[in-house]
Amino acid sequence: MVKVGIAGGSGYGGTELIHILLRHPHVDIAWVSSQQHVGKAVAELYPHLRGFLDHLKFSAVQDVPASSLDLLFLALPHGHAMKMVPGLPDRLAVIDLSGDFRISDPAVFEEYYGIPLEDPEVQKRFVYGLPEINREDVRRARYVSNPGCFATATILALYPLVKGGWVEGPVFVDTKTGSSGAGNSPTAGTHHPRRTNSLFPYKPFRHQHLPEIVQALGHPANRVVFQTYSAPFVRGIFASHYMTLRRPASPEEVRGLFMDHYGSEPFIRWVADKPDVNYVRHSNFTDIGAAVDGTYLIVWSVLDNLQKGAAGQAVQNMNIMCGFPEGTGLNLAPVHP
Ligand SMILES: NC(=O)c1ccc[n+]([C@@H]2O[C@H](COP(=O)([O-])OP(=O)(O)OC[C@H]3O[C@@H](n4cnc5c(N)ncnc54)[C@H](OP(=O)(O)O)[C@@H]3O)[C@@H](O)[C@H]2O)c1
Repeated sequence: MVKVGIAGGSGYGGTELIHILLRHPHVDIAWVSSQQHVGKAVAELYPHLRGFLDHLKFSAVQDVPASSLDLLFLALPHGHAMKMVPGLPDRLAVIDLSGDFRISDPAVFEEYYGIPLEDPEVQKRFVYGLPEINREDVRRARYVSNPGCFATATILALYPLVKGGWVEGPVFVDTKTGSSGAGNSPTAGTHHPRRTNSLFPYKPFRHQHLPEIVQALGHPANRVVFQTYSAPFVRGIFASHYMTLRRPASPEEVRGLFMDHYGSEPFIRWVADKPDVNYVRHSNFTDIGAAVDGTYLIVWSVLDNLQKGAAGQAVQNMNIMCGFPEGTGLNLAPVHP
């Protein structure tokens, strides 16, 4: 059994980790932290977990029993993991869900996150944990930086096209998130009356996931026009990517390109023109589809922001790092309706 701890176990990403790891046959959830609920039982804060984790109480993050854990998930707001990691023992594996270790250029990190990178040498220890493009690096890693939810959707949608040299000029990305993407602390932008039946843009050109997309794709930043929206659902990322191709392509050729890259991937499904956030909810799948008209191509990717966009992908990374079958704890069909 792998003894894991979850820093930020009371947040949406942390609670999703608990939910997945409860059904993982090789994991013992030994420790969870909260800022506001120290001493409270997990099932008292989250009644849906009653009967599953009755022994476990939230601790303060600084009381992490690092020497008795094998692996620590960090599901804290940006800026915390980079302060915490240097104090952890070297033998402890770490998977960080925040943006702290995703960007290798400290100047770019500071530009998009508004805070300096604490120690660029610590950042260099981390592998970017997107298994579909980086599986062998993850397998050898002890420190994994889990990608952002928007970034996962967009990198997976564009990677075969950019690497195959299919794209001419800029890609326009229009991507929408559900409200759980903003975490469990209420804000004006997540308040129910504002959010329900609404759709509004935020952070034009400047979303913090843009640099990790550019870094992973090697596609110049000025060629990715990236726009995020808040959408009126709780879970889900729906990303649309519009571009011009170097030469006309048929639907079969586009499908063939994606199948060549992802045909054996356990968590990617080709859905042609039927992407829908309803059909990935509560699952680790990314559904990808496309429509093409000559040289004009639209690619859609949809995922559950708390699963493939956060906790599901973190467990997928853990499975790879620990040598477990990659889908352990994750092989469930999406929930619909
Ligand atoms: N939500 C998503 O869809 C998503 C997707 C991908 C990545 N992420 C990233 O994952 C991380 C966690 O996101 P989330 O949505 O789970 O956030 P969240 O719901 O706001 O949870 C944050 C967690 O951190 C704890 N925390 C907050 N401030 C703290 C402090 N000063 N010291 C110690 N602990 C503190 C919170 O404890 P209390 O709540 O008990 O105060 C909670 O457990 C973030 O970096 C986020 O960007 C989130």
